[in-house]
Order: sequence, then structure tokens, then C-alpha cells
Amino acid sequence: MKQLKALILAAATLLMAQAHAVTDAQNDKIAERIKPVGTVCIGAECGGAAVAPAEPRSGEEVYKTACTACHSMGVLGAPKTFDKGAWDERLAKGMDATLKNALNGINAMPAKGNCMNCSDDEILAAIKYMSGR
Ligand code: HEC
Repeated sequence: MKQLKALILAAATLLMAQAHAVTDAQNDKIAERIKPVGTVCIGAECGGAAVAPAEPRSGEEVYKTACTACHSMGVLGAPKTFDKGAWDERLAKGMDATLKNALNGINAMPAKGNCMNCSDDEILAAIKYMSGR
């Protein structure tokens, strides 16, 4: 009788352990299902790497977040937004050379206009937007 009791107890313990294991696996599945689709992090939060957003931003979006501060008013001699003459002068050397200056910075113009997670294409789009090209 005592042995039977011990056997039942052992079996019950085993069953409980298994039930627990199943629950854990299900919990993992639920966590997997409800976790957010995309995790967004910026700059240092992503371990210092500048991570670009999944979708490229339009020239107007980039301009409004990163370039307008200086280029709308022509701060420090920045060619003004939509000032055709000012941009004609800048672009006389070619779009490639102008883009290169924007990417690397030139005088008071910071590299990439400080938009460190902007791709080269996004900077190009912003230049085209500002210069009305
Ligand atoms: C802190 C102010 C500032 C910000 C922000 C800024 N710029 Fe500029 N930018 C300047 C200044 C000043 C110049 C003129 C530099 C010079 O030629 O002396 C300039 C010049 C330029 C030029 C002309 C380069 C050339 O070859 O003549 C381009 C293109 C440009 N900026 C693009 C951008 C873009 C795109 C952004 C946003 C992503 C941006 N800038 C943000 C200040 C700024």
C-alpha cells in the first residue's frame, strides 16, 4: 500500500511537471504572438549604430526634420530653400559634387546636416527638394 501511494505520488509529480512544461511553451508562443512587429531604436539605443528607418523618407520629410533650421533662413550663409539663384550657383559644379559636400560637410554645413541616420539617397532627395529640382 505504501509503495502504491509512493508510485501514485511520483506519477502525479511527473504529470504536474509535464503540465508545467506545456504551459511554459505556450507562454513563449503567446509572447511571440503579442510582441510588437517592429522594434524602433535610435542611435545609442541600438548599441551606438545609426539605424535607418525601414522606409526611405521623402526629400520633404528629411528637409523638415534635418535641414529647415538652417536652410529656410539661410543661416551662416546656407543656400536658402527654393532660392533658385543660390542653388543654381551651388549646383553649377554638378549634383554629385554638391551631394558629396552635403554628406561630408562643408564649412558651417555639418556632415549630412546632422541627420546621421539619413541614407545618401535621403540626403539627395532633401537637396532636390530644397533646390526645387
Ligand atoms: C547647422 C546648419 C545646417 C543644417 C542643419 C543643414 N545645413 Fe546645409 N548648409 C549649411 C551652410 C552654412 C551651408 C553653406 C556652406 C558653405 O558653402 O560655406 C550649407 C550648404 C549646403 C549645401 C551646398 C553644398 C555645396 O556643395 O555647395 C547642401 C547641398 C546642403 N547644405 C544640404 C543640406 C541638407 C540636405 C541638410 C539636411 C539633411 C542640411 N544641409 C542641413 C548649414 C546647414
